[in-house]
Amino acid sequence: MSKGTYYITTPIYYPSSNLHIGHTYCTVMADAMARFKRLQGYDVMFLTGTDEHGQKIQKVAAERGITPIQHVDEIVGGIKELWKTMEISYDDFIRTTEERHIKRVQALFMKMYEKGDIYKGEYEGWYCTPCEAFWTETQAAEGKCPDCGRPVEKARESAYFFRLSKYQDALIELFESNPEFLQPDSRRNEMLSFARQGLSDLCISRSSFDWGIPVPVEEGHVIYVWLDALSNYITALGYPDEPEKYDKYWPADVHLVGKEIVRFHSIIWPAMLMSAELPLPKKVLGHGWILLEGGKMSKSRGNVVDPVKLIERYGVDALKYFLLREYTFGQDGLYTNEVMLNRMNFDLANDLGNLVSRTVSMIEKYNGGIVPPAGPEEGPDAELKELALAAAGKVEAHMDKFSFSLALEEIWILIRRTNKYIDETAPWALAKDEASRDRLMTVLHNLAESLRMVSVLLFPFMKTTSGKIRKQLGLWFAEPEWADLKAFDVMNGEEVKKGEAIFPRLDVEAELAALEALNAPAEPEKEYPPIKDEIEYDDFAKLDLRVGEILSCEKHPKADKLLVLQVKMGNEVRQIVSGIAEHFKPEETVGKKVVIVANLKPRMLRGQESKGMILFADNGDSLAFVSTDAADGETVS
Ligand code: MSP
Repeated sequence: MSKGTYYITTPIYYPSSNLHIGHTYCTVMADAMARFKRLQGYDVMFLTGTDEHGQKIQKVAAERGITPIQHVDEIVGGIKELWKTMEISYDDFIRTTEERHIKRVQALFMKMYEKGDIYKGEYEGWYCTPCEAFWTETQAAEGKCPDCGRPVEKARESAYFFRLSKYQDALIELFESNPEFLQPDSRRNEMLSFARQGLSDLCISRSSFDWGIPVPVEEGHVIYVWLDALSNYITALGYPDEPEKYDKYWPADVHLVGKEIVRFHSIIWPAMLMSAELPLPKKVLGHGWILLEGGKMSKSRGNVVDPVKLIERYGVDALKYFLLREYTFGQDGLYTNEVMLNRMNFDLANDLGNLVSRTVSMIEKYNGGIVPPAGPEEGPDAELKELALAAAGKVEAHMDKFSFSLALEEIWILIRRTNKYIDETAPWALAKDEASRDRLMTVLHNLAESLRMVSVLLFPFMKTTSGKIRKQLGLWFAEPEWADLKAFDVMNGEEVKKGEAIFPRLDVEAELAALEALNAPAEPEKEYPPIKDEIEYDDFAKLDLRVGEILSCEKHPKADKLLVLQVKMGNEVRQIVSGIAEHFKPEETVGKKVVIVANLKPRMLRGQESKGMILFADNGDSLAFVSTDAADGETVS
């Protein structure tokens, strides 16, 4: 029986370039929560997607010399691939360039327009292109974006405005009367004081570029990208024309967002919904950032951590575990390879990996691979059982607060306690004495039970690992259910089978070196001069290019930069003066076969005649010969 619906969203990502580990953080949390709620019996809707319009995307595409849609199609393909690799269980992926989204954003705009909340005016302000955000004079103090610190540009145009100011009091009332709406408290206080300072109306259209959703009431304007993007949370549900899912799932239970976009989600989005007379989301949760030692991750600064490289090396679950365990929701945290590797080694290889391999080995060794039934309770049994039976409730309580780290810690308390149980009961000693056989069987049973509980508890966070454990425990036939955590003594007769180590131990020093090499910032992309204007074939055909062999070469007597070369070209030897003295010594040129522009009008260069020109490859700093093996005199065409 379904416990009801649960609708969770991630931000929709800008497909300006590939995503880094910071972006995956939010999606990994949302995925864990979606799986957790499904496991508990909720009917879950988990939405993610991409935010594809706006000036920034148009700019990036133009720089790449392709159309915006070509650009976003390519990047979005990569993002979907990444989520597949990371086993992200989203139920829908919305792209803001999809027709279903476009028409519904326009419908929402019309609803707000007809309400009288959208009017035409003149916009002048500061615009931050990378953030797609307008700022007032005070906000953009010193000409810098208050979010990202990059320079803002003055923008002025006739534009449509949303009467955000009209909703100021309602928003203040929302924050004050419903503290749960926006969490953590620090963000709520921040937004409350932001709203109390006074909200100006918001410019919601642009006419200086066209990569966006057309404003339905006037040609030549596109809808502000944030209005477009925020609407995704309801357009994906079919609002307003196919309301079945909308009616079922809206309002969202939670919008998970990064701290810098809390303002859009807790002020602009609720105001839009109030204007359209739609219910507000139940909760907006702002998480912190994953930072590098040098500060924020940024593709342009070349300091990003690529999740794909980490997954290739350590597997998806190790990365997910690290992200969920290491960082405290709502706070910023530092990423270092060392912290990650230590987590993988201590928690995964040592604690969990050892428990699985010891439990399965001992059941194989001492009972032919069959899980024995429960036996009389003794010694530490009661404590182990109690802990295992209490785990579900504790994990639930932490998950209610989005404390992923504490939820996992709770599971690890059980894992560590079970390892300690092995040491306390010493099955290898029991196995030596036939009289202890019953006790040995009880111990093996309890170990298998505890590990079964762990496999259920881990399922939302590390699905594949949970599956591997269950397979080794002979539980491959059943998907775990939350209700499985209600009883302890249920296993009896399952056939265990040892598999590969679920998390092999890592050599931290060696891995650190390998990661250093992998994540070394890529060389900045070299810039090449643009291709010159097109020419007709006839223009090209006028050139007479020939192969020549340099017979001798000496310095120009009157010019330091010039060399004077004697070049054999078939039956002729001609003199060519070339400005290459800074790049080659005369003797380095002798014997080289080169390409010559043979019909270039002869010129006198500081008293020496030059008949033709030798071609070189030029990288801006140095020259290289364009050499050939062909015989001198042959034509090049
Ligand atoms: N397109 C907007 C969101 C529109 S939602 C209606 C956007 N996109 S984004 O790609 O720039 O960022 C998406 C999310 O990634 C944000 O929530 C942001 O906080 C998060 N992160 C980007 N870098 C991050 C870290 N280094 N660490 C944690 N989260 C980070 O904003």
